[in-house]
Amino acid sequence: MTDLFESKADDWDKGDMKQMLSQAIGGAMVQKVAFQPQHHVMDFGAGTGLICSAIAPHVQSIAAVDISPAMLERLAAKPELQGKVTTVCQDILDCPIAEKHEDKFDVIVSAMAMHHVQDTDAMLQSFYDHLKDDGKIALADLDAEDGSFHPEDIEGVFHHGFDRSELQSKLERVGFQDVHFDTATTVYKDDKAYPIFMVMATKA
Ligand SMILES: C[S@@+](CC[C@H](N)C(=O)[O-])C[C@H]1O[C@@H](n2cnc3c(N)ncnc32)[C@H](O)[C@@H]1O
Repeated sequence: MTDLFESKADDWDKGDMKQMLSQAIGGAMVQKVAFQPQHHVMDFGAGTGLICSAIAPHVQSIAAVDISPAMLERLAAKPELQGKVTTVCQDILDCPIAEKHEDKFDVIVSAMAMHHVQDTDAMLQSFYDHLKDDGKIALADLDAEDGSFHPEDIEGVFHHGFDRSELQSKLERVGFQDVHFDTATTVYKDDKAYPIFMVMATKA
């Protein structure tokens, strides 16, 4: 599989927008999700670990799931994540990681990764299957936009954000309950505003 983030990995953490976004989203997750010291968390599309860094002090362990070896290599080199975060470089939609109950997750978080996954229904089903009973999701991504957020010729962007009510219906169809949206932050680019939602829900 081509690593679409290989050329971006080295400079990912240097981007002001990436830092602003991960601080706002990571902060919203820490504030809104009742993380517990014994929690086993999955960060889906973890990239270089900006969100893991915000969450790691509050939980026991994080599985950083991503399909980009280059992004995960940067994550694995971060001293503050040693011993807390393990990297999982695989497409969990095709190859799930949680087989037994004790391998399943208390919380699944994700920041700005869902628009890179073509089949949203399959992705949400995979999140549901990887969670323990009563497990929670906290997923942040772009609200529906006109396609101007990314450059036109970019590869691997399958969704121009997400419509909140459509995403809520999809989550409820899979079996999630207590679906609740917040606005985590807003990105301003070329005089345009791009709100970023964070949706939380519980496995029924
Ligand atoms: C925009 S980056 C966000 C990275 C990180 N969450 C952050 O906020 O800095 C999207 C990430 O999703 C990953 N990704 C794309 N498709 C994926 C998939 N099917 N499974 C797991 N990760 C995926 C990419 O490799 C990339 O690291």
